[in-house]
Amino acid sequence: MKNIENSYVLRIKDLNVWIGDRHVLKNINLDIPRNTVFTIMGPSGSGKSTLLRTINRIIELYQNVKISGEIYLENIKINDQNTRPENVRRLIGMVFQIPNPLPHLSIYDNVALGPKYNKLVKSKKELDELVKWALERAYLWDEVKDRLHEPARVLSGGQQQRLCIARALAMKPKILLMDEPTSNLDPVGSSKIEELMIELKKIVTIILVTHYPFQASRVSDYVAFIYDGQIIETGPAEEIFTRPKNPLTEKFVTGRIG
Ligand SMILES: Nc1ncnc2c1ncn2[C@@H]1O[C@H](COP(=O)(O)OP(=O)(O)OP(=O)(O)O)[C@@H](O)[C@H]1O
Ligand SMILES: [Mg+2]
Repeated sequence: MKNIENSYVLRIKDLNVWIGDRHVLKNINLDIPRNTVFTIMGPSGSGKSTLLRTINRIIELYQNVKISGEIYLENIKINDQNTRPENVRRLIGMVFQIPNPLPHLSIYDNVALGPKYNKLVKSKKELDELVKWALERAYLWDEVKDRLHEPARVLSGGQQQRLCIARALAMKPKILLMDEPTSNLDPVGSSKIEELMIELKKIVTIILVTHYPFQASRVSDYVAFIYDGQIIETGPAEEIFTRPKNPLTEKFVTGRIG
């Protein structure tokens, strides 16, 4: 029999976040199935990035933040004093809107640094293999294999974004958070990342944030529509895009808000 608990990699229960006086996330409940692309979509300012930052605990670096509720990665409560944020961030990688490789470091070192620092490999050979594996998974290997020791800044924007994906994958995360990962790329660069997401979900669960309903409809297995800090509707992508239950969701997916 299928174990239902085990089919979710992340569970969010009654999550509320306040920044200063502003109630930014309101009673969020979400269950994220393993090995899927789960998309959080909603208009600007609705709380999408704040939700990702709360999941990987970057939010704690901000001033005047108050959080209530629970977040479980598998069976571990990750928003807990006893769970170290560094461990959470190793298991939950993040890719940002603007590609942020370390520009002066080599392509190789951008990927190798995290695993080396966290002692995930025992030898140079193992590290070389891991770097190659991550670059292949990010669809970048063929483009960079002959110039691994050139600085990351020589790469195009789209290549830099795929390098950031490789860097995150090299840590062998369970979840990859992607916050508007294509909004600074041209259509070709964007569609490469979209193809990549569909392939990557075999090895990692992807939580994608986007305010483009069309992108969401192309890549998602599940979608949650967030508006003003609340989850208005969530379900299989196909249902949300063809038979939305809430009129606000319908307005958003047809491009009338956002
Ligand atoms: N550090 C902060 N200090 C104060 N308010 C903040 C902070 N970060 C976010 N907020 C507020 O929280 C709300 C949600 O912001 P968030 O960045 O999560 O939205 P978003 O859905 O990611 O928007 P966008 O699509 O524009 O990226 C906004 O009203 C924003 O002003
Ligand atoms: Mg955002």
